[in-house]
Amino acid sequence: MTEPGTVLITGPTRNLGRHTVLALAGRPEAQRPDLLLVGRAGPDLTAVADEARALGARVREIGGDLSSLADVRGAAATARDLLAAGAVRPLRALVANAGLMSADTRRASVDGYELTFAVDYLAHAQLIGDLLGSFAAPARVVLVGSNTYHANFWRKLLHVPEADWADPLEIARPATGDQAPGMEAAGVAYSNAKLAILYYAHELQRHAGADVGVSVFEPGWMPGTALGRGAPAAFQAMSRALARIPGVSTPRRSGPLLAAMVVDGKWAHLRDGAFVLKDRLTEVEPVAHDRDRERRLWEATAELLERATSPR
Ligand SMILES: NC(=O)c1ccc[n+]([C@@H]2O[C@H](COP(=O)([O-])OP(=O)(O)OC[C@H]3O[C@@H](n4cnc5c(N)ncnc54)[C@H](OP(=O)(O)O)[C@@H]3O)[C@@H](O)[C@H]2O)c1
Repeated sequence: MTEPGTVLITGPTRNLGRHTVLALAGRPEAQRPDLLLVGRAGPDLTAVADEARALGARVREIGGDLSSLADVRGAAATARDLLAAGAVRPLRALVANAGLMSADTRRASVDGYELTFAVDYLAHAQLIGDLLGSFAAPARVVLVGSNTYHANFWRKLLHVPEADWADPLEIARPATGDQAPGMEAAGVAYSNAKLAILYYAHELQRHAGADVGVSVFEPGWMPGTALGRGAPAAFQAMSRALARIPGVSTPRRSGPLLAAMVVDGKWAHLRDGAFVLKDRLTEVEPVAHDRDRERRLWEATAELLERATSPR
């Protein structure tokens, strides 16, 4: 069995991320990885770190706001320093879990990019790019995707529209105008960010080499999490009510499934952005495989990340 090494995870403070952390920390010692928790510094980050420590894990908190690419670069640098100093074991996995659905697509990240695209996608592209040279083989990158990239029953019920792809430089541009474009636009932005994650995962595998397996996890629909916390109250109330439907996913159920994808031998073979819905390897829709869009996204991402390092 491969030594479990270290797992870095973003968005560990609540719901899916938190339950994934606790599932990893609760593994028997021989399978228990060290943990690097990347999240906004504060009591929530400290609380989950303490919970994981209480289960026996070696944990380091790395504070950073993913809506700032400077923070993301700082978090990657801290992770590299900890690894180089031997403060944690070699890096075996990175879990790109943090996400949000900004209710107002005019909102911009610190770097001026549409907030959902910036946090869900661009921040992770920066983090992974900065850490790609730090992995110890065999390693895994697990991105958290969502079935909202295409039409499906639950999405229609919640009026979350499917992706409406455009050039990534266009997708990254915040909306303008005096009035918020509304939940339809917010849903398209979220679905576009999640489609970007699939395109990125396919392209990343072409650049990462065979020692790093790239895959995408879909936790199943977990209504009632904080994902749409900026949405109108009625939307949030409906989401909380739907959480009571028997059989829908919950962070408590899906966290251990994500943890399994990160460390279990069962999933060691995953490559090429393989898509796992809860615990089932699933084919993505044809729209999610597009070599031209994947190449263009890679190139545009480099441009967007580079722009964010230049003085404005
Ligand atoms: N809920 C669902 O039905 C569903 C379905 C499919 C996929 N997913 C995906 O699953 C993942 C987790 O979702 P969830 O439902 O657990 O959402 P959640 O309850 O809102 O948790 C999101 C996590 O992301 C972090 N985050 C958000 N913005 C951040 C920022 N600017 N900087 C640093 N961290 C930030 C949050 O940190 P704070 O605590 O600091 O806010 C939190 O830890 C997301 O990628 C989501 O898209 C969810």
